[in-house]
Amino acid sequence: MNLGTVASVRGSVVDVRFDGHLPPIYSVLHAGAEKHIVIEVLAQRDARHVRGIALTPTQGLARGMVVADSGGPLQAPVGKGILSRMFDVFGNTIDREAAVSDIQWRSVHRAPPPLVRRSTKSEIFETGIKVIDVLVPLERGGKAGLFGGAGVGKTVLLTEMIHNMIGHHEGISIFCGIGERCREGEELYRDMKEAGVLPHMVMVFGQMNEPPGSRFRVGHAALTMAEYFRDDEHRDVLLLVDNIFRFIQAGMEISGLMGQMPSRLGYQPTMGTELSGLEERIANTDTGAITSIQAVYVPADDFTDPAAVHTFSHLSASIVLSRKRASEGLFPAIDPLQSSSKMATPGIVGERHYALAQEIRRTLAQYGQLKDIIAMLGLEQLSPEDRNVVVRARQLERFLTQPFFTTEQFTGLKGKLVSLKDALDGCERILRDEFKDYPESSLYMIGPISEAKGKAKPVAPVAPAKPESKPAAKAEPKPAADTSVKATPESQPKPEPKPKPEVEHAADAHAS
Ligand SMILES: Nc1ncnc2c1ncn2[C@@H]1O[C@H](COP(=O)(O)OP(=O)(O)O)[C@@H](O)[C@H]1O
Ligand SMILES: [Mg+2]
Repeated sequence: MNLGTVASVRGSVVDVRFDGHLPPIYSVLHAGAEKHIVIEVLAQRDARHVRGIALTPTQGLARGMVVADSGGPLQAPVGKGILSRMFDVFGNTIDREAAVSDIQWRSVHRAPPPLVRRSTKSEIFETGIKVIDVLVPLERGGKAGLFGGAGVGKTVLLTEMIHNMIGHHEGISIFCGIGERCREGEELYRDMKEAGVLPHMVMVFGQMNEPPGSRFRVGHAALTMAEYFRDDEHRDVLLLVDNIFRFIQAGMEISGLMGQMPSRLGYQPTMGTELSGLEERIANTDTGAITSIQAVYVPADDFTDPAAVHTFSHLSASIVLSRKRASEGLFPAIDPLQSSSKMATPGIVGERHYALAQEIRRTLAQYGQLKDIIAMLGLEQLSPEDRNVVVRARQLERFLTQPFFTTEQFTGLKGKLVSLKDALDGCERILRDEFKDYPESSLYMIGPISEAKGKAKPVAPVAPAKPESKPAAKAEPKPAADTSVKATPESQPKPEPKPKPEVEHAADAHAS
């Protein structure tokens, strides 16, 4: 066995001296009494020394201690046996169930599939979430990013996608948690178990309590499992990553520890290489596809951050979550004007869908421009045509919200899955002013547009132009009254025949 001795330990960085054979890059070394300290070689310093990064805490490691070269790289378990299980970066199960059987071990360092094996088909990946399917259609075998600061709903949206996929998707979901809260992993595991989705899922976690080396490699481990299902079992894989920014961040920590000069904003000079090494392996081949949806934390909501910019360049769809919409209760808080997808072209989604999507965007953009005027002069000063645009845009905004299955406990609303056809029909009918006389709230948090009718009956437009009050103040999140549109258009009558006093309405809004 190839043995060495520890020459120095600085946090997670360990230098090891080998007098015989120098282990190659990516070799895994073991140290400590129970071989519990795992080190991955990242550099060969000279003829006798290697420098590695520990994937475990290095407490108790001291100079002179013996280190054993395992003779191979880090490996991940693959095979049918890993389904419904939860792993850490080393492939140890962390769900306290029986040991895994029926598995093989494969190196986590693999090359992306060659160009000739890649598929060039463009297929839409339907999610059942209205705003995504209509405005930012995802690509089967593509990479989509969910961009947003903290607490805007990235994790909720990812979880909802797993939920929606299981019904109409024969494939496998692999969830990779990188550097997020550990409790989220535990909660997800429990939720998936309750939902009965676990048999089609694998979970891999390297959360924020783990050292940087572990967070840096856990993505590779998850990809290795995904590649097995794609290449060996010819199945479609949905790979969910929460959060790819933490992978970049772990790389930054490692780079600093290894003594490399930082680049822009303190990021590692090798960020581009590291990220493309991971992202390029997520590919579509003729045998199966890995569709990946990645949450991307945007530091301080700054979308020009190098980490966000680098990630953007790998994606076929970017979904931007906005804090403003989240604060208005418009969930999922997707900003349609900032989000984009390369699938949104007439050749792929079809003429009708494309034209509708363009019209929706135009209406929302016009409303965005009119907001300033409304704030200064009030809605009355707008031309009738502009007023109609405002009504349509606000109705579209409401219609594009959707109750989620994963948020049923705290919204009290049943989750809804909406087909692309229903979503398009709804948008079209709103744009054709069919719902002109409906209160906005009748379109909020519904599934297909047919549900709008059941919620509130249109009343003859005779009610005074007062802020409309919501029908049935159930325990549902209300969109915060948009100050810019205090005066409601006359075309939106109050649902109740008796006008309520202003004060009561405000108290009402508070209670819900
Ligand atoms: N679709 C939604 N419906 C209702 N509430 C939501 C929704 N999405 C997010 N939220 C609220 O926002 C909170 C933060 O969401 P989360 O996904 O954990 O944020 P992130 O992962 O972006 O930090 C949730 O706990 C929930 O209260
Ligand atoms: Mg999150």
